[in-house]
Amino acid sequence: MIQPFQIAPGPRVRFGRGEAAFIGEEARALGMERPMLVTDPGLSAAGVLAPVTEGFGKAGVEFALFEQAEPNPSDASISRAKEFYEANNCRGMVAVGGGSAIDTAKAMGVLVTNGGKISDYYGADKPAKRVPPFITVPTTAGTGSEVTRASIITNVEQNTKAGIHADALYADLAVVDSALLATLPRYFAAGALMDALTHAIESIGSKQSSPWTEAMSMRAVAFIGKHARRFVDDPADPESADPIAMAATLAGASFTNTGLGIVHALTHPVYSYFGGHHGTTNGILLADVMAFNLPVMRETYARMAPLLADTGGPGGPGTAETAIESIRALARDIGIPPSLGALGMTEEYLDRMAEEAAQSATVKTNPVHADAQDMKAIYSTLLN
Ligand SMILES: [Fe+2]
Repeated sequence: MIQPFQIAPGPRVRFGRGEAAFIGEEARALGMERPMLVTDPGLSAAGVLAPVTEGFGKAGVEFALFEQAEPNPSDASISRAKEFYEANNCRGMVAVGGGSAIDTAKAMGVLVTNGGKISDYYGADKPAKRVPPFITVPTTAGTGSEVTRASIITNVEQNTKAGIHADALYADLAVVDSALLATLPRYFAAGALMDALTHAIESIGSKQSSPWTEAMSMRAVAFIGKHARRFVDDPADPESADPIAMAATLAGASFTNTGLGIVHALTHPVYSYFGGHHGTTNGILLADVMAFNLPVMRETYARMAPLLADTGGPGGPGTAETAIESIRALARDIGIPPSLGALGMTEEYLDRMAEEAAQSATVKTNPVHADAQDMKAIYSTLLN
């Protein structure tokens, strides 16, 4: 019997090389007026914004450029973005970037239409009104934020991350154009890709997984298994960039319906205390968390093993263990550091971090219950 499940309606998705050129037309069709183009510093200089801004020009859509999206956006940065939106009389948001630019736009959009302060909306289904007309355009193949209902914000005073989770945050349209990935530096390509792979595998393992979401996530695992190494070597190559871009979006569309697992529970405290790239940290943790979940995931991981045969791991039809070893091999080969110690993590905060990880909402959807002792054991194994 299939357990009852629901799938939330996500954004319309427009996928393909060169599709970013149509964002201006799409913005006009959505009724945007002087949309705020929310992006990361540096994307403009790298030439990544060019197809988007040229498309605005062709469609005769004037826009206001906001290039101050922060990595791991803080609550204060969201207030600054909202002030910019209002000062420029914007109506509509186009977020071009990694998860940070897209999460900034989502959280800002909540403030624009609902008022109040960002902490009013932490948790599930708090905003009453939808964000303004909204297009998301990922420039890293990782977070899947272009199709998810979540925005993760850092509370600077408390040194914690909090999420806003609501259908009100869904974009109207996600434009996924793998040509925008062409200049991704190797380190970020590798980290983002491990984030997408973690989303797919944690979604498959989630207690809320369904055949619907598993179909998306397994396809994401297959794309990543086949194309990851080539993509990291040359993200400008469409033969690998297209499937990797597709994988990240599929994994996002899957996990926004299922929730994640304890890789994400363990990653957030590492960032809080030691910084580092979200996806890279996931990449260090993923194989060990799979080993922790193995008792209930054996059959599913065994089905994954052949999909990961090209990663440089053991290959073959395989078993659950070979799937885990393939992921270890992939992480190593694309340059993910071997330990959390390599990110600067020390024993000093271990107990506190394990307690915080055990409080994460993602513990509830992880296939095996994990308490603070379990979290500490996983951290300790990966310390050096
Ligand atoms: Fe993630």
